[in-house]
Amino acid sequence: MDFSEQDSVAAVRSSLASTPDPRLREVLDSLVEHLHEWLRDVRPSLAEWERGIEFLTAVGQKCDEHRQEFILLSDVLGASMLVETMEAARQSADATASTVLGPFHVVEAPERELGADISPSSDGDPCLVRGRVLAADGTPVAGAQLDVWQANARGAYDVQDDGQPLGNGRGLFTTDEAGWFWFRTVVPSHYPIPTDGPVGELLRATARHPYRPAHIHFLVQAAGHVPLTTHVFVADSPYIDQDAVFAVKRSLIREFEPVDDAELAERHGLANPFRCATFDITVQPVGS
Ligand code: BEZ
Ligand code: FE
Repeated sequence: MDFSEQDSVAAVRSSLASTPDPRLREVLDSLVEHLHEWLRDVRPSLAEWERGIEFLTAVGQKCDEHRQEFILLSDVLGASMLVETMEAARQSADATASTVLGPFHVVEAPERELGADISPSSDGDPCLVRGRVLAADGTPVAGAQLDVWQANARGAYDVQDDGQPLGNGRGLFTTDEAGWFWFRTVVPSHYPIPTDGPVGELLRATARHPYRPAHIHFLVQAAGHVPLTTHVFVADSPYIDQDAVFAVKRSLIREFEPVDDAELAERHGLANPFRCATFDITVQPVGS
């Protein structure tokens, strides 16, 4: 039988009928249905289809050990946040909201003592970030591991070309007996996501800006708890209502309050005045 517009879904689905993994079959059946429906809706010319394939090829070619252009594409299309949000719906409402991991996490962040400066090579507004890791019932979680990373006050991560040594803006911390963590840093800046690849081309073609509001990333792991990937956002940051990757959740926004307290500044080894953000993080027990 000839392949036809009306029967295209059935033809491809029947070719998938012997897929041994039932979940894979379900995912592919649905993909074929929606892809074909989209093509019948958009009715691309062959030249447009080739342009689309060229775009996806360029996305793949831009990927390397340090750059994941497919994740960036998923981010700017809202797909990362949709998957993230659907995953969060399965989790306890008591837990701190999760948000995207992003492409700037590194596997080997420097281990640091509580109170250490994670941004010794950055100029900017000095800042104290502190909080507790808590279980859903409010009990402090001692020995939780926090992997923290941020851009500097010019909006660049260490892994970008900004003259920062690797590890600047990063730290691995372990909470104390009372679940507390605290560290020194500079207030991060808002920044553009990478625009020197096909995703940047897409943003320009759609007249979209590339900016993310200022934030600090946290990846929190505690024994018996579900790992949590989240950010704390700086309340007065530009783009707080227009994140290029849709990742702001209201519950994650904190004031980075100005503090003028010479004694407290000295105790923490900070210049006075400084800014201070408090961010408690609630983790969810495994299997709840
Ligand atoms: C980030 O926050 O590091 C990030 C997230 C998504 C895309 C680009 C950057
Ligand atoms: Fe970031």
